[in-house]
Formats: sequence, C-alpha cells, structure tokens
Amino acid sequence: MRIGILGSGLMGGKLGTIFSRAGHDVVFSYSHSKAKLDKLARDAGGQARAGTPAEAARDAEALLLAVHWSRVDDVLKKAGDLSGKVIVSCSLPMNANDTRLVIANTSSGSEELAKKVPKAHIVSAFNTVPSEVLFSVFESAGREGGSGKRGTAECCVLRGQRKGEEGGCSIDQ
Ligand SMILES: NC(=O)c1ccc[n+]([C@@H]2O[C@H](COP(=O)([O-])OP(=O)(O)OC[C@H]3O[C@@H](n4cnc5c(N)ncnc54)[C@H](OP(=O)(O)O)[C@@H]3O)[C@@H](O)[C@H]2O)c1
Repeated sequence: MRIGILGSGLMGGKLGTIFSRAGHDVVFSYSHSKAKLDKLARDAGGQARAGTPAEAARDAEALLLAVHWSRVDDVLKKAGDLSGKVIVSCSLPMNANDTRLVIANTSSGSEELAKKVPKAHIVSAFNTVPSEVLFSVFESAGREGGSGKRGTAECCVLRGQRKGEEGGCSIDQ
C-alpha cells in the first residue's frame, strides 16, 4: 500500500518506519528539517522516501495525519486535494500546551477533521497509543505470530496484510 505520512515526529516517524518495514511504500513529509525526513526514509529502508506533503499525498492510498492539532489546517493545505483519500489520524484535538482537549463532549477531532476534508474518508487510530510503545507493539504483532490482536485495521496495517489474507484483516482497509 502507498502511505503518505503528514507529520514525521514521534508518531509519524515511528509509524512510517513500521509501515515501511511491513512492506508498504511510505513517503515521510512535514518536518522543519528535510535532513530529518531523509534520515527517516533511509533508516526505514524499503521504498521509503522523503517528500513534501503534496508529494506524500499525490499517489497515496492512505495518509497518516500525525501533527499537533494546531498544525492540521496548515498541513492539509500543503497536502492539496485529498478527495477520495483515506486519512488515518492519530492527532488529538489538544490546546497549544497539550493540557486539555479543545474539542470534546459534543464532537470529536475526527468529526471536525471530516468537516475540513469532507471528500476524504477519516479513520481515527493510534491516538491512544503512546509513541514510546509503538516499536515494541509491532514486534509482538510480527509476521511470525505474536500477541497482536487479529482482525483489526491497525494490526493489519502493521503486519502489511490485507483483508482476506491468512490471519489478516476482517474489515476493508
Ligand atoms: N506522541 C505520542 O505519544 C502521541 C500519542 C497519541 C497521539 N498523539 C497525537 O499525535 C499527533 C502528533 O504527535 P507527535 O508526538 O508525533 O508530535 P511531534 O513529535 O511534535 O510531531 C509533529 C510533526 O509535525 C512537524 N511540524 C510541526 N510544525 C511544523 C511546521 N510549522 N512546519 C513543518 N513541520 C512541522 C514536526 O516537525 P519536526 O520534525 O521538525 O519536529 C513533526 O515532524 C498529535 O496530535 C498528538 O496529540 C501523540
């Protein structure tokens, strides 16, 4: 699967690396440092490369949105037309100093995101998982079998599996 990473920090950098190592074709984008994006791509191996948000989005079948809530509008604008794309968002709608939710009770970050890009398909995922555990979760959900939960979209993306494959996802990705 071709996956564009919008925000290559703690979450995007690690998840993009995990996706690439699972065999997906990953483009890392949106950092203050092009050198950091290049290094992430080199270290992730496979087909991974660095690009702009527009380049990450252009041919992507899925995008990972992994920026602070305050940067969502900026990165979406830079990514361009996202009609028809699947956007997997781990971004939590937090205030500037991450002390409280700015959207809650009557709506959610994903519902607000869906209003910003009404022609995209929004999936909320990974947003309750601290970045510190992502690599170890992936190791336990490895291809050789492990404790990773079968049949969830997150698990199957991590494993590089599609619906219908042995031990694979039970829902469309
Ligand atoms: N960290 C976690 O454990 C965790 C867990 C669950 C959910 N989340 C949510 O996931 C989202 C991402 O969190 P994170 O911890 O991965 O954040 P992060 O490490 O700060 O990563 C954000 C990325 O956006 C880039 N960025 C920010 N402002 C930019 C600008 N003006 N121009 C270009 N690039 C810019 C950063 O660039 P640089 O590379 O230059 O820093 C970085 O690559 C947040 O909404 C957070 O609430 C985080």
